[in-house]
Amino acid sequence: MGKIIVTGASGHLGTAAIRHLLDLGVQPGDIVGVVRDKAKGAALAELGVELRLGDYDDAASLPSAFEGGEKLLFVSASSMDNTLRIRQHAAVVEAARNAGIKHIAYTGIAFGEKMTTGLENVHLATEYMIRTTGAAYTFLRNGFYLELLVNEGTAGVVEGGTVISAAPSGKMNYVTRDNLARAAAVVLTREGHENKAYELTASHPFSYDEYAAVLAEVSGKPVVHKALPAPEAVSAMVAAGVPEGGAGFLIHVVDAAIERGEFGLPSDDLANLIGDAYTPLKTAVEQALNG
Ligand SMILES: NC(=O)c1ccc[n+]([C@@H]2O[C@H](COP(=O)([O-])OP(=O)(O)OC[C@H]3O[C@@H](n4cnc5c(N)ncnc54)[C@H](OP(=O)(O)O)[C@@H]3O)[C@@H](O)[C@H]2O)c1
Repeated sequence: MGKIIVTGASGHLGTAAIRHLLDLGVQPGDIVGVVRDKAKGAALAELGVELRLGDYDDAASLPSAFEGGEKLLFVSASSMDNTLRIRQHAAVVEAARNAGIKHIAYTGIAFGEKMTTGLENVHLATEYMIRTTGAAYTFLRNGFYLELLVNEGTAGVVEGGTVISAAPSGKMNYVTRDNLARAAAVVLTREGHENKAYELTASHPFSYDEYAAVLAEVSGKPVVHKALPAPEAVSAMVAAGVPEGGAGFLIHVVDAAIERGEFGLPSDDLANLIGDAYTPLKTAVEQALNG
């Protein structure tokens, strides 16, 4: 078997996907992590994973990064400039084709065809580009990370007793990044995932009301959800320490889309791919609050 190449290997998702590949029995020597800075991949190198330099902004760096690869986990670029990202992604897809990669798994966005946030355009464009290569593909249409909500700040939200949003009743199909990494590793190591698109979301999307109820249940403390008009919600988040740009994005883009139902579609694709490893909301909250 040729090598499995993983881009974005220095990032959260790429690193976790490599750890899951190892967990699923792939030999470290059969994995290549593509990074912009080898120092950022030091922990992977210690596990025996080969690191190669590759930069989506430097097409000339990609042929040697992808050489000898049979499968590619292509982690989407992290730039906020979606026009630039399409150019970056084009460089990756072209290099993968030219390197003779047989199977490209790409991390896109869940239910992008039904989304109107603007985030979907780069992912749909990239999926269509991948289809032109003739390689087998698996579109890992990732749901939003549950870590956006459930993170090191969650204990503070519980102490404050209030979850603030601008989405009174819309639902979220968020899932953990680690679950998404596991799904990527599964499709690269098991048969039957060629030329498939998976909507990797929660099986049971939840509203902010339901999220607050889970926080209350797990912590044993009163927590309520308060939906505010968007400008007030941004101000409340900024007062709570969220940077203004991030708060504006979460309220005006994400919560607005939640309320339009664009993050509320359920799918069992993730649970079906990863089985018992699937982490429901309550478990993620327990892990965040109780360690
Ligand atoms: N589903 C969601 O909720 C969600 C949220 C945020 C982002 N995303 C998308 O999912 C991707 C993976 O998420 P993540 O949490 O792993 O993000 P992350 O921790 O920020 O990792 C991003 C990875 O992409 C690499 N990268 C960025 N620009 C690159 C370039 N020009 N050339 C080569 N590599 C480049 C980074 O390398 P460096 O370490 O060198 O920077 C890093 O390894 C993100 O890049 C983004 O497209 C999804």
